[in-house]
Amino acid sequence: MTITKMSAAHTEPLQKGESLIPGFTVIHHMRRGKDCDVYYVWSEERLTGCIAKTLQPETQENEVMRKRMIKEGEYLKTLSHPNLVRAYEVVESPTPVFIQETLTGETLSHLIRSLTSQNEVLPTKQVAHLGMQLCSVVHYLHLHNILHLDIKPSNIISQPPLAKVIDLNLAASPGEVRKGMGTKQYMAPEQARGDVLTTAADVWGIGAVLFFAATGKRPFQSLEDGRYEQLERPAEPVQTYREMDESLANHINRCLQHEPEQRPDLKELHEFLRTFIQA
Ligand SMILES: Nc1ncnc2c1ncn2[C@@H]1O[C@H](COP(=O)(O)OP(=O)(O)OP(=O)(O)O)[C@@H](O)[C@H]1O
Ligand SMILES: [Mg+2]
Repeated sequence: MTITKMSAAHTEPLQKGESLIPGFTVIHHMRRGKDCDVYYVWSEERLTGCIAKTLQPETQENEVMRKRMIKEGEYLKTLSHPNLVRAYEVVESPTPVFIQETLTGETLSHLIRSLTSQNEVLPTKQVAHLGMQLCSVVHYLHLHNILHLDIKPSNIISQPPLAKVIDLNLAASPGEVRKGMGTKQYMAPEQARGDVLTTAADVWGIGAVLFFAATGKRPFQSLEDGRYEQLERPAEPVQTYREMDESLANHINRCLQHEPEQRPDLKELHEFLRTFIQA
């Protein structure tokens, strides 16, 4: 195994065969996000491939980001739910890295884009099934006083029959959170404004994901100059882009109500979706 060579000077991701941290060798670099690198690594201890999430070299000295990455790893190691990715271990230094199970499916974003390009749509029962699973895992996070705050199609991996939520990097307790933290097209208006956040911010995220899963379109686009479309107009009804059962459409639309208090409660939404699937 080669020597670990992550330092602030290295801006390129590590290559196949390089050591990420002792015991974990890079098989390939998977993705470079805004602040993080995701690698597929070989675990010497487990004799299997795992997913390692770490900070990009440029971000490694940033104390806020380091703490956030360690917190994300600790959450995923401690929490346990069938619709949430599992972390096996968290390494704090010299570079924060956490090791996760390998999910084998594709992201919801990829899945829906492929369907759309073939002029197909996700059947409504599958939209409801996805929604039910999201309600279930997000409700579990909320019971643990955690808001996800970045529920979006690329943070959901479809591993049939399960939808798995990943990426707790922005997760926080209810309360005040830095203005605009999240993904522009999917964040609730109160998140864009920097208001105090409640569980309703994630209900919005679920609504935005279901809107996309049902129609192949995002409910809001990203505007230039720090402007947020969700602060400038209400969401269009999901029926604008797809004919569907009225009660299912109404539940999706209610998740995207501007006022947090007008969005449905997760248990109520879960129950509706469960009944819808069984009908
Ligand atoms: N456990 C996993 N199994 C399989 N693929 C994964 C796993 N974790 C992450 N990925 C892949 O890596 C991508 C990025 O992961 P993640 O969302 O955790 O990082 P991120 O840097 O926060 O990304 P972004 O900035 O795009 O939100 C995911 O969209 C997915 O394609
Ligand atoms: Mg992500």
